Formats: sequence, structure tokens, C-alpha cells
Amino acid sequence: MRIEVNANGISLREAQNFSSFGIFLNSGRVPETVASNWLEGGTRDLGGQHVWVKEEALRAWGHLHEDAAWQERLTAMIDKAKGYGFIDESGRRIRAHIVNPGTTAPAVADGAASRELADDFKVAMRRLAATVSVITTRENDISFGITATAVSSFCAEPPALIVCINRSTSIHDPVRRTGRFCVNLLAAEQDEVCNAFSGKLKGEERFNVGSWVTGEHRLPYLETAQANIFCRVESSLQYGSHTAFVGAVEAIENAPDIRTLVYQNGTLGSFASRPAG
Ligand SMILES: Cc1cc2nc3c(=O)[nH]c(=O)nc-3n(C[C@H](O)[C@H](O)[C@H](O)COP(=O)(O)O)c2cc1C
Repeated sequence: MRIEVNANGISLREAQNFSSFGIFLNSGRVPETVASNWLEGGTRDLGGQHVWVKEEALRAWGHLHEDAAWQERLTAMIDKAKGYGFIDESGRRIRAHIVNPGTTAPAVADGAASRELADDFKVAMRRLAATVSVITTRENDISFGITATAVSSFCAEPPALIVCINRSTSIHDPVRRTGRFCVNLLAAEQDEVCNAFSGKLKGEERFNVGSWVTGEHRLPYLETAQANIFCRVESSLQYGSHTAFVGAVEAIENAPDIRTLVYQNGTLGSFASRPAG
């Protein structure tokens, strides 16, 4: 996140980016009110590389003041920053790196533009509702599984789907090496399975949550899932942090009813169709 100060006032950019905290002095002059409301020590430290920003001023920012999730993430950012000495002794001031307009403005502007686009993308994706799946595989008698929403139907003839897996995940290389995976579409009440496979539990411990079995395909699958879709990797594409695997479907088990677990806007829920008429 970045505070931008210009001759007229102050703005907050990339408010959802909690991985960095900077201050961009867009003109040489910082209005007195901005300095006294936001900066510990006013303009005293502006010649240096960092200033101390008042936490309460940041927390009171516009609509974010009432955004409980944002406030919580800020608390987490501050807790993390404490470990690096980026919070002063009072615990109420956050150290912001000063971005010098004269020398680094173009690079910051470029970086900021792409970071803003990435932030906007995340905000847009919060509107993309998706069924929650657990993708599993098995290599050398070890089961791997992660929660995933980047799963899409790709082709019906022949049946194929696409899953997008972060290369840093534990399942990525086993899928690449074995060329086999199973997509387990979760049922509406399987929040705990979703949580276990998205980081609450690690490794094979995850498979203690839910009724997992290993069948003829030698892949772990969730018996009570909405569907188990067994795939062979047909093709893959690396892009940035992820690999998109095209899975040729080899076998399917479907539950009789349809009531899947859906993820939207950072929360779990289920689909409700509109009353007919
Ligand atoms: C709702 C939800 C959807 C997710 N979708 C994906 C996804 O599509 N692809 C992916 O690589 N990770 C996705 N993740 C993140 C992984 O589940 C998470 O990073 C997991 O802990 C990785 O497993 P590992 O810790 O064994 O590497 C998602 C997480 C959640 C909560």
C-alpha cells in the first residue's frame, strides 16, 4: 500500500496490497495538516529515507474505517512488520519508505500501475463465483491435495477440464510427474474439507478430514463429494506463478443431487436459484 502526498492533500493507493508500505511525495511540499495528522514528527524527517506514519490516521481512512476485513489485514501486516523493526516502540507508528519523486518517480509509477492492475484484478476476481474443488494426486504412495477454484470445464467431446495450480504448492510437481489427478467437487457442507486442504492442515493429515479412499485409479478421492473426475494430464501451460493443466477425463463418479460448495468474494456459500416465474 502506498500513501501519496501532493500539494493538495493525501491519497491512499493499493489499499489491498499489504506486502509493502511506502509514501510517495508527489511534490516537494507536504501540506501542514497532512504532516501533523499523518506523520509522527511532522515534516521533521522528510530529508531521510523513512517517516513514521500514525496507525490511527491510516485506520481512519475513508470507507476503510468500517471495513472490518481490511482492518484485520492491517493488524496482521503490523504484527508482521514488528518482527522487522518497522513499528516504533509505541506500537502505534508504521515505518514508510519514502519514494523520492525526483529520482524514482517513473519506476514507481510503472510499478504502481502494474500493482494497481493486479489489485484491480483481485477485486474483479472476487466477483467470479466458483465451485470449490479439492485436486488430489498420489506419487510414491504419498497422497497430495489442495483446495482449488481455478477449475474449468474445457471440452465435452472429448471430455476435458483445466486446472490451474500454483507452482509453489506441494501438489504441483507430483501432478506434473505422474500426469494424473482427480478433481473432487465439494458439497455445500464440506467447508472443513476446503479449509483443511487450503492450509489449515499440512501434507497427508489433510486426508483425515472427510471420507477419502483410494480406488482403482490409484488416486485419492472423496466418496461424499459432488463429483470425482479422474484425469490424465494431456497438456500444460506455464504462466507466471501457475501451470494450467489440461486433464483428459478418464472416469467420473457423480452424486445423485446437486448442491455444491461455492466460493465468492472471499467467502464460502451455496447457490440458490431464483424462484420460477
Ligand atoms: C477457496 C480457495 C481456492 C483456491 N484455489 C486455488 C487454485 O485454484 N489453485 C491453486 O494453486 N491454489 C489455490 N488455492 C490455494 C491452495 O489451496 C493453498 O495454497 C494450499 O495450502 C496449497 O497447498 P500446500 O500448502 O500443500 O502447498 C485456493 C485456496 C482457497 C481457500
